Amino acid sequence: MVGLPARGKTYVARKIARYLAWLGHHSRIFNVGNYRRNAVGAVQMHDFFDPTHPENAALRKEVADRALEDMLQWFERAGDSPATGAVMTKDSPITPITPRPRSDSLSLSGVGKAGPGWVALYDATNSTTERRQNIYDKCLERGVQVMFVESVCDREDIIVANIKEVKLSSPDYAGMDADAAVEDFSRRISQYAKYYETLTPTECQGEIPFVKVVNVGDQIIVNKVKGYLQSRIVYFLMNLNITPKSFFFTRHGESMFNVQGKIGGDANLSPQGHTFATKLPELLAANLGPETRLTVWTSTLKRTMQTAAYLAWPQLQWKQLDELDSGFCDQLTYEEIEEKFPADFSERDQDKFNYRYHGGESYRDLVQRLEPVIMELERHHEPNHAILIVGHQAVLRAIYAYFLNYSLEELPYVKIPLHAVVKLTPKAYGCMEERYTVDVPAVDTHRSMPHPALNSRAK
Ligand code: ATP
Ligand code: F6P
Repeated sequence: MVGLPARGKTYVARKIARYLAWLGHHSRIFNVGNYRRNAVGAVQMHDFFDPTHPENAALRKEVADRALEDMLQWFERAGDSPATGAVMTKDSPITPITPRPRSDSLSLSGVGKAGPGWVALYDATNSTTERRQNIYDKCLERGVQVMFVESVCDREDIIVANIKEVKLSSPDYAGMDADAAVEDFSRRISQYAKYYETLTPTECQGEIPFVKVVNVGDQIIVNKVKGYLQSRIVYFLMNLNITPKSFFFTRHGESMFNVQGKIGGDANLSPQGHTFATKLPELLAANLGPETRLTVWTSTLKRTMQTAAYLAWPQLQWKQLDELDSGFCDQLTYEEIEEKFPADFSERDQDKFNYRYHGGESYRDLVQRLEPVIMELERHHEPNHAILIVGHQAVLRAIYAYFLNYSLEELPYVKIPLHAVVKLTPKAYGCMEERYTVDVPAVDTHRSMPHPALNSRAK
């Protein structure tokens, strides 16, 4: 990452890490601010960041180097022992997931467990060509490819809003008066601005891949980007925006198959499911908040369209939102699957995310299929215009896990009950969740995880 303070580097780094982790890549953030706080304590006033102060400058370089070295060692450990790989989670970055080799190639949707690369986000200002050259050289020496992501922003209103949104609650300003904190942070920015150099195509021997995001995407400048992962990241960045938004999700009303305990199929709603559909408009109206418009996305299956039938909002059908394809197990109950195909049943319990139904899909396949839906949700940027997805259990688990940063192991066990509406409001460093229910009973279709240790996060 490259950029002056309060330019959204941490925000962007976290989004990239979460997106890539969700797609099955091992990703981890190395935040130099955290290294600094660990080394010298949280509260440091703006003069600590004065580049002309020799001792402090040396100290800041030392923590930046330490973070860089940790990052490079992480890559080495990751390459040596894939079983210790990690996905980024909120604060504790290590969540073991399926081992995958290190490479910059993508395993296309659901090609077993093989494939994608390991990505570290080195989150610091990296605001001089000299510092970037140092990063570039050290990474190349250790066989790690580099791409720089710079955020440039000269809009004072955005910068002040950023300081208020995230910096006032930072440990750097714990207990300090808000005006004094804004004033100090602005002076910290000035310290960096004294020697800040924007990315240029000539640095790093003229071989520098970078993407420069100007004023939150008004302009995107791309230089020498190569390979699948780099172009994926560029495309993701092109779709990011900071418009405040909320998304609503609900499963279809209870279906006749839900009542019979059968999976898959294309059943009609049950009488209770139908009642839920009739009550959905008022449930939404009561909880819309600032949203004045809604667009409804359904799958192409009858149960979602029947659930949306009473909503007087524009509707769109997405084939991508269809439920996980259960292949040869379609229209069976879990008991029938266990009886007829015991080996498959147990294999799925052992690794639900990767298990692919014969002739059908795995959760890993489903995530790849849902990627355009996530991109569209990220791209959506009309204020007060919310999206409501009327979806399915597995599909909504995958979407929910993206926003709430669940590991791929936890994803297939997220609890998304019938007859409940979930509202998600992404915030700078997280996501706010509200759930609304209506008093229409429904069966419980959730099968718990057979590894109880992980059940605590299986909401
Ligand atoms: P620091 O160098 O102090 O760590 P930072 O550059 O990492 O600062 P963040 O802490 O990530 O800045 O700032 C978060 C804020 O940036 C959020 O309020 C978010 O809305 C906003 N933001 C996100 N993307 C951008 C962008 N491309 N340009 C400007 N602001 C952005
Ligand atoms: O039971 C409802 C359902 O939507 C099925 O159609 C689907 O196969 C299942 O949920 C997915 O949940 P799980 O992955 O836990 O079996």
